[in-house]
Amino acid sequence: MSVPQMKAQGKFSQGENYCVRDISLAEEGRLLIEWAESRMPVMMKLRAEYSKTKPFAGLKITGCLHVTKETAVLVETFKAAGAEVYWSGCNPLSTNDPVSAALAANGIGIYAWYGNHEDFYWCIDRTLDARPHLTLDDGCDLINTVHENYIDYAKNFVIGGTEETTTGVHRLRARQADGKLYYPVFAVNDAETKWDFDNVYGTGQSTLDGIIRATSVLLAGKNFVVAGHGHCGSGVAKRASGMGSNIIITEVKATAAINGTLEGYEVMTMDEAAKVGDIFCTATGVKDIIRKRHFESMRDGAIVCNTGHYDAEINIPELASLAVSKRTIRPNCEEYTMADGRRIYLLAEGRLINLAAAEGHPSEVMDMSFANQFLSHLALANKHTAGEKFPIEVMEIPVAQDEFVAKTKLEAMKMTIDSMTAEQLAYIEDYNSGT
Ligand code: ADE
Repeated sequence: MSVPQMKAQGKFSQGENYCVRDISLAEEGRLLIEWAESRMPVMMKLRAEYSKTKPFAGLKITGCLHVTKETAVLVETFKAAGAEVYWSGCNPLSTNDPVSAALAANGIGIYAWYGNHEDFYWCIDRTLDARPHLTLDDGCDLINTVHENYIDYAKNFVIGGTEETTTGVHRLRARQADGKLYYPVFAVNDAETKWDFDNVYGTGQSTLDGIIRATSVLLAGKNFVVAGHGHCGSGVAKRASGMGSNIIITEVKATAAINGTLEGYEVMTMDEAAKVGDIFCTATGVKDIIRKRHFESMRDGAIVCNTGHYDAEINIPELASLAVSKRTIRPNCEEYTMADGRRIYLLAEGRLINLAAAEGHPSEVMDMSFANQFLSHLALANKHTAGEKFPIEVMEIPVAQDEFVAKTKLEAMKMTIDSMTAEQLAYIEDYNSGT
């Protein structure tokens, strides 16, 4: 097996079961993973419990999800619980190379490196060579590959899968509506302990972290335009507001726009925002949010980035077509100069700024999202072991599972909360009581 582009440049380490940037980075990666472990108590509790019973023994899991120190904790928890694990990154710019090397050194079948534009699907194919029983996705590229190129295997062998992100869940629902979903998939994204924390606080902090690492600009006093005021966009707006930026929201959904106004932000169209924004961040899941006519009216020095899953939210070919020159100013920061001399700065090629330029969401929030990933795969494995099957559809995370994750997290944070008395429980269910 070869990776033509990288091999020609002699820029990678390849073993029987892996292809990573540089295997000698494994020790550095191991320290990062240990750092994440120390902040992911729910995952470590699951690892301690299931490494004794090994519920995944005899099962293979393939994942396609950002290779970060937090993901490594999930991968190694599956391994400790008996699974054989294969992995690839789900974005060309989100792999942490030392972490990828550490996973390879620990026997994980991993095919991932930062900057993997050309061999993205080659890596996914390699993780499918072993024909895994379970798939774990972030953005649906793995499930799409299995459903389009491995149809018999998808229909007759795969037990089930999970999906991590909003964009992926939308795609899965569209696939189901079209009658083209071939195995059951849990929508991990839709769990309360995922989107209320990871999407809001994780995206909020890590997006600002990425913008700051890529530019080092002062956020205070800047007009910060957030396109999309859903869970992710609201997190970005909250944190940028906290840093002293003036927040401008653009939206297509009326309730999300009202919500933005009630938070004290300005709401306007992108046509208007383009004229006054200093920093733009898209978080919509929709393509062409910032396009030619917006670039044409932007101020000199405008900074443009994206924190949605795909790099389609900023129309980069249109930006390039308007530019008379382009140069790299610093890592993840490219300057496009327009014919009239205005300069527009595009961060991280329009890809997820929080992972491309920073380290993704902090471990503390990924702890809950990945606990739901682990437990959803456990439910799939247990059903299979019992000789039963889930319906072939996009499934919600069971409320009890979500509550278990939340309670375990609270316990780890050493917090106790009240519980209702029997009288209070009876009161809320008593439809006869009133004024
Ligand atoms: N998505 C966002 N942040 C992440 C992280 N730290 N690890 C894996 N996936 C992520």
